[in-house]
Amino acid sequence: MFEKMNEEISKLGVIPVIVIEDAKNAVPLAEALEKAGLKCAEVTFRTDAAEESIRQISEHFPDMLVGAGTVLTKENVDKAVAAGAKFIVSPVFDPEIVDYCIEKNVPIYPGCATPSEIMQGIKRGLGIVKFFPAADLGGAVTIKAIASALRGVKFMPTGGINRDNMRDYLSMDCVAAIGGSWMCKSGFISNGEFDRIEKLTREALYSADKIREEKNS
Ligand code: 3PG
Repeated sequence: MFEKMNEEISKLGVIPVIVIEDAKNAVPLAEALEKAGLKCAEVTFRTDAAEESIRQISEHFPDMLVGAGTVLTKENVDKAVAAGAKFIVSPVFDPEIVDYCIEKNVPIYPGCATPSEIMQGIKRGLGIVKFFPAADLGGAVTIKAIASALRGVKFMPTGGINRDNMRDYLSMDCVAAIGGSWMCKSGFISNGEFDRIEKLTREALYSADKIREEKNS
């Protein structure tokens, strides 16, 4: 299910998880990500500015894969989709939200922390699930152990991933993409440090490409 989006997310390899306090920063932020070569943004519903930020990014950057993160209710799903979100990410596996997205054909990446939750995703035909909070749950070693039992499903780990440990995750075939805020921390966004975001994002993409090249060689 959601093959096309899964493919795009896997191709990207890195999903920037964004906490944006003021929607006026949405366009400059998206511009920085795009200049760095990353046409993707997961804008989390952790602030009141999320919906408007998704709307602005979608309007100004129609090619950008803008998604909504930290989606905890069906109402969040509706708001996100109406604002232009192309995919939904949640920190939890809530069957009600997952089934709602499936019904509406909106790609959903629910947060799973246990093999049982991942199994619920597999049963619903999801090709990729979010593994959260990845580092606190044992990181890449845990994913490897789960993947050896639950074959076929791919993971989008987030939580505690950064440039120092991204290799552990991205060098595994079962990891579709990593997500994280290290290149676009909310403080950088609030301070208008868009050049810094661009530089860190470019570095992240460069490293991700290198890791994948090495993996496939
Ligand atoms: C998420 O919601 O995916 C995580 O909070 C991102 O985690 P990070 O800030 O540790 O990268």
